[in-house]
Amino acid sequence: MTDRKITPDQLRSRWWFDNPDHPGTTALCIERYMNQGITLEELTGGRPIIGICQSGSDLTPCNRHHVDLAQRVKDGIRAAGGVPFEFPMHPIHENVRRPTAALDRNLAYLGLVEVLHGYPLDGVVLTTGCDKTTPAALMAAATVNIPAIVLSGGPMLNGWHGAERVGSGTIVWEMRKRLAAGDIDYAEFLSRITESAPSVGHCNTMGTASTMNSMAEALGMSLPGSAMIPGPYKERGLVAYATGARIVDMVWEDLRPCDVLTREAFENAIVTCSALGGSSNAPIHVNAIARHAGVELDNDDWQRLGHEIPLLANVMPAGAFLGEEFHRAGGVPAVMHELLGAGRLHGEVLTVNGRPLADNLEGLETRDTEVIRRYGDPLVEHAGFLNLKGNLFDSALMKTSVISTDFRERFLSDPDDPDAFEGKVAVFDGSEDYHARIDDPALGIDERTILVMRGAGPVGHPGGAEVVNMQPPEALIRAGVESLPCLGDGRQSGTSGSPSILNAAPEAATGGGLALLEDGDRLRIDLGRGEVRLLIDDAELEARRQKLERQGGYRYPDHQTPWQEIQRTLVEPLDRGMTLEGATRYRDVARRSPPR
Ligand code: FES
Ligand code: MG
Repeated sequence: MTDRKITPDQLRSRWWFDNPDHPGTTALCIERYMNQGITLEELTGGRPIIGICQSGSDLTPCNRHHVDLAQRVKDGIRAAGGVPFEFPMHPIHENVRRPTAALDRNLAYLGLVEVLHGYPLDGVVLTTGCDKTTPAALMAAATVNIPAIVLSGGPMLNGWHGAERVGSGTIVWEMRKRLAAGDIDYAEFLSRITESAPSVGHCNTMGTASTMNSMAEALGMSLPGSAMIPGPYKERGLVAYATGARIVDMVWEDLRPCDVLTREAFENAIVTCSALGGSSNAPIHVNAIARHAGVELDNDDWQRLGHEIPLLANVMPAGAFLGEEFHRAGGVPAVMHELLGAGRLHGEVLTVNGRPLADNLEGLETRDTEVIRRYGDPLVEHAGFLNLKGNLFDSALMKTSVISTDFRERFLSDPDDPDAFEGKVAVFDGSEDYHARIDDPALGIDERTILVMRGAGPVGHPGGAEVVNMQPPEALIRAGVESLPCLGDGRQSGTSGSPSILNAAPEAATGGGLALLEDGDRLRIDLGRGEVRLLIDDAELEARRQKLERQGGYRYPDHQTPWQEIQRTLVEPLDRGMTLEGATRYRDVARRSPPR
């Protein structure tokens, strides 16, 4: 707990509802809430006013059940003496939003900052689920710094095909190959994929949604054990009630996001992410939340703290199970219990229930060691990311644990060095170019080709496209080559397990070296040195750069909307969290800039 405490006359909402200096404003605020049947006593009786940031809607089905869960949150808030006010978040739906849901993370962030700052809220419950809803909410909470707690909607129930588990997202990557190979038709393809989504909830794999909600819990921003309760389970309603009750106490304790979102908490999140086999989108979002909380976190931290951590969660795409088994085995607390026992976590950090992490984890060891493994008996060693550098970019992430023996044999460049690989590249400018040309025999793609995707970063494809995990040409798939290594300045779906080098920054569109690559160039990937190098001499590379500059730089499609243009002007590279330039300067906004 913090040693701060506030009294009813220190509630932030008093400025709006009980402000003798501004009687007109006060009256206007009161009359327009009383006309909803809210009593004067509720507004002015010294009760905390609690926002419920509603991220569910018909457009965001992954979070849609929050519309019902919010009723239990309200019950909890009222029981603890608070007054609930529900309001919408800008919708963000990963599967449907074009050009990409990532474009909306910063937009939802900006909108939420304005709401939390500009309305009479003493605390807020952040309802989260689908990929970017969680980071958007946490970034805003960190910026405004009023008491805030995360309530995830939880994953869907397991998907099944007969007795076989079907994981959301992951099944798409598998079935796309079957469709390309001609093993199934479109009707079968559709039916196999819809099997993965049997109930309300977000993706049931350890994709970006499960990862980011687990990150919220690992950071200490949601109640222990709550992140991965499946959406339809009764415990979801119970924890919604408990979350509502808890935020009211957090207001009285003046327990704010920046008390929880410390450097140590972010280090815990990195370590936990590796043990979960978390999404490659996590470093982007977690770095963004950190920067808004005033903690400088970068991809070197991810490599230093996370790379050697073993994989403990046996959940797709890295493992075999789905959200239901993971929850039954003990969920995020059981994973963190193992990590704490191995001395990998800071146990003293404060969490939203007012207790240190280590207290929360006491006695919560794994209940099923097949689903959540012991630290000493992991599924994979070194499950985290390497932060690769070289003459084409300053930072790109690779999960080395997914490199197969087959890949090692095909790309090994030197029999004496097991960590150095070489291959020639085929280069694509965005996903349309890839789809148009991947099967063109003139490209000469064979089993030793590295596929490169550029023009897919936050500027090139506004928001950054999840397109780096490319599949080989159909002819190669039919010949049994199911995957080729991929490299790109875009992102990869968290539900994909491909061995890719992702999130290369700076991106081609902002002067990054990928813009200089040509088909047939040779790349050397040296994991021992943490490097990717284009094998041409510096003079040739410089000549290519000057030629590109004379041509006006790397071209990308025009803006389609005002926000695409604004975001492109302000967005920072993926390794810096894709935040908006200047926005991370604003911190602790509620205290530093009181209402006026
Ligand atoms: Fe929304 Fe996966 S598409 S959680
Ligand atoms: Mg995704």
